[in-house]
Parts: sequence; C-alpha cells; structure tokens
Amino acid sequence: MTRIDRRLDPGAELSETDALALDTALLNELEPEAARLYDRHAKVAQEWFPHEYIPYRLGRDFDKEPWTPDQPRLTGVAQTAFEIGLLTEDNLPSYHRLIHGMFGKGDGAWINWVGRWTAEEGRHAIVLRDYLTVTRNIDPVLLERGRMTQLQQGYDHDAPNTLRGLAYVAFQELATRISHRNTGRYSDDPVADRIMVRIAADENLHMVFYRDILGAALKIQPSAAVRAIVDEILAFEMPGAAIPGFLRKAAQIAKAGIYDLRVHRDEVLLPIIRHWRLFELEGLDAAAEEARRRLAEHLEALDVAARRFEERLAGAPVARLGRAD
Ligand SMILES: [Fe+2]
Ligand SMILES: [Fe+2]
Repeated sequence: MTRIDRRLDPGAELSETDALALDTALLNELEPEAARLYDRHAKVAQEWFPHEYIPYRLGRDFDKEPWTPDQPRLTGVAQTAFEIGLLTEDNLPSYHRLIHGMFGKGDGAWINWVGRWTAEEGRHAIVLRDYLTVTRNIDPVLLERGRMTQLQQGYDHDAPNTLRGLAYVAFQELATRISHRNTGRYSDDPVADRIMVRIAADENLHMVFYRDILGAALKIQPSAAVRAIVDEILAFEMPGAAIPGFLRKAAQIAKAGIYDLRVHRDEVLLPIIRHWRLFELEGLDAAAEEARRRLAEHLEALDVAARRFEERLAGAPVARLGRAD
C-alpha cells in the first residue's frame, strides 16, 4: 500500500512521519492553485487604513478624564459583541502560529499567503481597539486585561491534517465575517458599522481563498476531503474560549441574533457546503458516504435546535437583530 492509498483508506493507521509527508505532498499539489488564488486575492483586495475610520475628534486624555461607565454610547450586547470581536482578533499571534504550522511550507504561494493573511488580519485589532478607545465605548483597562489573559493562554486548534485545517479556516472566516457584520448592524452607530463592513469584506476574501483551495482539494482527494469537512463541522467552535466569561457572552450574542444557531447553519455552513456541491459529489468511498449521512443529520438537528431557540425567545424582552438584506 502506498502512502497515498493509506490516506484514502480511512481505517489505515499512519505514523506521524507518513502523515506529515502526505500533508506536504498535498500542499505541493495544491500550490499552483494557491498561487492562482493568491494573485486573484491581491487583485481584488483593497488597501485601507485604520486611521481613516476613527473619529479622533472625540478623543480625550485618560489621565485628565478617566473612563467611567456612563461614557459609552454602545451598551449591553453591542458592547459585549465588540469586546468579543476585538479580543478574538487580538489573538492573531496564536492564529499565525497555527496557520504557519499548517500551510507555511516552502518559499512559494503558500508562505506568501500566510504572510499576506497575517498582515491583513493585524489591521482588524488595530481599527477595533482605536475605535473603542477613542469613543470610550468599552473600558480600556478591561480590554487590555482581557487581551493579556487571552494571549497568555493562547489558542490551539487541533487540526490533524491539512484538509481538516483548510475546512476549519473556511468556516471560521465566514463565521467571523458574519459576526463582525452583524455586530456593526446591531451597534446602531454608523462609525462602528462602517468599520465592521470594512473588516467583514476582508474576512470574506479570506473565506473565498480557503473555500476555493479546499474546492481544489476536493477534486484531488474527494473522499478524504469530505470526511475532513464533516469532522470539522461536527467539532466546530469559535476561537474565543479563553476570553473571560466567554460562554455567558456568547449566549447574549446568540440571544441578540448576532451569531446564533440559525446564523451558523444557514449563513455559514450551508453556503459553503452548497458551493462545494458536497451532497452531489459522486464516487465517494463508504466512509465518506457515511460522513455525508452524519452531516445531513447534523444539519437537520441544527435546524430543529435553532427553531426551538427562536420559539423560546419569541415574546422575550430581548432586542433581536433582523436578517441582513
Ligand atoms: Fe480578522
Ligand atoms: Fe480573516
């Protein structure tokens, strides 16, 4: 049995060296497509400057006028969603380490993408922190302590192979795009909304890169890719677990309709699954067929859970975000 045959056989045990060699082989095979997608990205991605989005005229010195809880214009869940959004973006050093570990091979398109992606992501925390600090919409001490806690803990995502890693980042980028965009809409602040529209456009292009490179992988190793995608969907978690009070805050964000099960299923999972035509692929092995069956069940269960959640909230005194146009 060759190494490739063993990858295609889901029951085969792989040594760590063999698994690494397989991942390198797949990345090499995908490299021309990564180069094409990188060039496409570079053509459509617009340069933008965080300082152009910040209302500096509102700034005052904190030593003369310390932050007090009556200063924010944003309140309640809008504040919480911005806090989670910024602290999540703050954790870029961990994401860079992971992305570099998974895709940072060689000296060609992959490493170029890792560098470009990291540089673009860095702008997100810059613009969000500047906005929140200048407008005094969140206590800057709370933000800095949250950042310290987050970064000291770091973030890890155990992606056992390249295909799983690609599946995770494709869904993760779209989830981030939607949650940022909805946070901006929920804020009812045109300045905040403009920032979130800008960041969401970046996240969308990141998603498109990962979605399309995994689309190419689906053509090379369809069964292994399907299994990886399903495994990632079943295990999916947002990367904010180290943020102080994350579960409680995520629950508030869900109740507000910024990011809930309905959004996750209908606006994150389904569009990408449909784009790949996952349920229409033919010639899959038995394990991939079984994975697809589990995925169908999972989507059905998410639908039921989302409906129950919406029914429970109907009539509750919670301001919920309407669907985007
Ligand atoms: Fe980002
Ligand atoms: Fe992104």
